[in-house]
Amino acid sequence: MSEYKLIVSNWKMNLNFNEAKSLIKRLMQLKLDNSNVKQVVCPQFLLIPLISDLTKFSKIEVGAQDCHFEENGAFTGENSVKLIKKINCKYIIVGHSERRQHQKETNDLVKRKVINILKNKIKPILCIGESLEDRENGEYLKFLKKQLIECIPEALSEIIIAYEPIWSIGTGITPSIEEIFEVQNFIKNFLIEYKEIKKLIFLYGGSINSNNFNEIINNSYVNGALIGGASLRFQEMKKILTIC
Ligand code: PGA
Repeated sequence: MSEYKLIVSNWKMNLNFNEAKSLIKRLMQLKLDNSNVKQVVCPQFLLIPLISDLTKFSKIEVGAQDCHFEENGAFTGENSVKLIKKINCKYIIVGHSERRQHQKETNDLVKRKVINILKNKIKPILCIGESLEDRENGEYLKFLKKQLIECIPEALSEIIIAYEPIWSIGTGITPSIEEIFEVQNFIKNFLIEYKEIKKLIFLYGGSINSNNFNEIINNSYVNGALIGGASLRFQEMKKILTIC
């Protein structure tokens, strides 16, 4: 288990240059007395150079929201991990359900991206999560297991997994603590059984805000959070980061 809480902001396709600059400056000015928080901000691609530059001397780290699985080549519109690394990204979110849904990303594609990210010595944040249908018909653990089997490459010593139930993203609905724990425990046991991964950093994501964050984060098995909507609002982030 990790000793720190990893708080990842997923800004998605939001904020213009001025808004991003203003938000990151306010976040950098925050005086947090807890040293056990690692903050990562993942802006859309065109904002990354600006945010990387502004955070150069701060503790805030930068991540990307996606990448391509090949090093380079004829892939119009795509972004290479090598260049993502050059602009100082330390993390890359991969397999987010919005990409699985809108860009039809498969588990196999996600795995190829994870392999490429690791090859370039960046940390992938692998997103998994079931639909409401799978949750309601009791098939969710089976679904999550398939995602784990098919997305995680062999020979890994550590992995960051963000459990984001699709029915919770942007809906205001969150699973209970027991439901989150069940999934964390399931992943942990899966990793012991099927893959030789020694360390799991388990993040929860989906409708996190300053009201529900305390209950979710103050459980030793939750190592951090992937935050969408609330990460765009400074006051929300201020409260969230103070709670950690
Ligand atoms: P949300 O998004 O916090 O707005 O639900 C989380 C995510 O999609 O990473």
